[in-house]
Amino acid sequence: MTNTQHDHILILDFGSQVTQLIARRLRESGVYCEIWPYNQADDKRIKSFNPKGIILAGGPCSVLEEDAPTAPDLVFTLGVPVFGICYGQQTMVKQLGGHVKAEQSREFGRAFVDILNHSEITSGVWDKGAHEQVWMSHGDHVASLPEGFEVIAKSDGAPYAFIADTARHFYGVQFHPEVVHTPHGAELLRNFTHNVCGCSGDWTMASFRTEQIEKIRAQVGDAKVICGLSGGVDSSVTAVLIHEAIGDQLTCIYVDTGLMRAGESEQVVDLFRNHYNIPLIHEDASKRFLSGLEGISDPEIKRKVIGGLFIDVFDECSAKVSTGAKPAKFLAQGTLYPDVIESVSFKGGPSETIKSHHNVGGLPDDMELELIEPMRELFKDEVRALGRELGMPEEFIRRHPFPGPGLAIRIPGEITQDKINILRKADTIYLEEIRTAGLYDKIWQAFAVLLPVKTVGVMGDARTYDYVCALRAVTSTDGMTADYYPFEHKFLGRVSTRIINEVHGINRVVYDITSKPPGTIEWE
Ligand code: XMP
Repeated sequence: MTNTQHDHILILDFGSQVTQLIARRLRESGVYCEIWPYNQADDKRIKSFNPKGIILAGGPCSVLEEDAPTAPDLVFTLGVPVFGICYGQQTMVKQLGGHVKAEQSREFGRAFVDILNHSEITSGVWDKGAHEQVWMSHGDHVASLPEGFEVIAKSDGAPYAFIADTARHFYGVQFHPEVVHTPHGAELLRNFTHNVCGCSGDWTMASFRTEQIEKIRAQVGDAKVICGLSGGVDSSVTAVLIHEAIGDQLTCIYVDTGLMRAGESEQVVDLFRNHYNIPLIHEDASKRFLSGLEGISDPEIKRKVIGGLFIDVFDECSAKVSTGAKPAKFLAQGTLYPDVIESVSFKGGPSETIKSHHNVGGLPDDMELELIEPMRELFKDEVRALGRELGMPEEFIRRHPFPGPGLAIRIPGEITQDKINILRKADTIYLEEIRTAGLYDKIWQAFAVLLPVKTVGVMGDARTYDYVCALRAVTSTDGMTADYYPFEHKFLGRVSTRIINEVHGINRVVYDITSKPPGTIEWE
């Protein structure tokens, strides 16, 4: 269903890791947009979407390859402004009669452009003659322009870093305005949508809520929906949103995997059953998960096993939800964009597979339930904004993210009940200290990891031989990149002392100072 009350911008995706950031920047400036894979944009669909402008996003291919992806020709004849970014610029240039070259002078990361001419997009942001920072990621570059284009800016590696055909309102940039490392990128995109395309910028999170509720009602009809609660913000917001749309057609299922943090199950059950009055099945499947994971060390296999078991339990619970001829037809999930982007390869959408996050990667092909994923396009902080919009308790909204596979991916190597118990105790102490120090809200995610390594220690004159506990705390805005949190040494010392004194089985504590990239937030 297309939303008709707002101006639309269409973003065609050629497989870049950062395409969603374009959508995010547009949403931040109040513009409704949709991302479609380039090969799913047929003429009829584009016309009925009625975009006020089209953005051609980046991608990993080279336009010089045979069968390289191209934009539908209609994009250039529809009479609306077009903004090509990186690969999008290159395919636009090639399709309109210019040339692209593969050169030695590849540019990755920070670069600078010299502004040579004025344009509607740079207006009020970059002055002619200025030298401005951008973020580049390209091998090929534009070598000659199609008729009607002029150069707006150049960089050392890209003579046509920014080009414009003012008459047709076609623009192209070699750099990525959507990433924060292009400091004025959001303003450039805003100039495109607001000034060039004429979008009014009246789209808000309240609109998102209303539109998603309409969408959910249209998709579901009078069918029943089940929603898995994980205890985290994503599934909780999903459940409350869906409950608002369809009321008691929704039943929540809380699968207790036995891999949750201490006290978490009780909190979830209390909030949903007692506070929201949402029908809830609390299924204790901890023994099943533990025996399914026996002997498994590989993180990807762990995720697949957990994902598979999850779905099995869901199928069984959905049978309980069914009455007579009306079984549950839909499964709602709190999948977010970072889960999607890191799980799907280019053939099906954007980006290389890094980790198969279980809520997208583990679904079997023969699953009987259809998926509803109303937050598939959102980043974490946007989900929190939606939760606030829905009036959810602040304490729940501010909760650190917790991964679907739970403590299983915080115990590298084989998982045992004993290790889970040890990790829970350490994690509780760590988070208690973080809250006491008033640091919880400054941190994106903090957790303990139990390493499959034993080291020698000495306690009360006796030799110990116990596990190492690693502490992780990161700052982030979207989970895509992250930096370690710079705790004071005194704080770390206090946590370490408490963990070693209070948790039997741990005799050494280390702090992880890896950022993402090159690390990931979780250890597995
Ligand atoms: P990574 O470790 O990939 O984590 O840097 C990014 C964010 O995703 C969470 N995460 C997961 N969430 N299933 C989930 O639902 C998973 O398999 C999974 N793996 C990582 C992680 O906690 C962080 O917030």
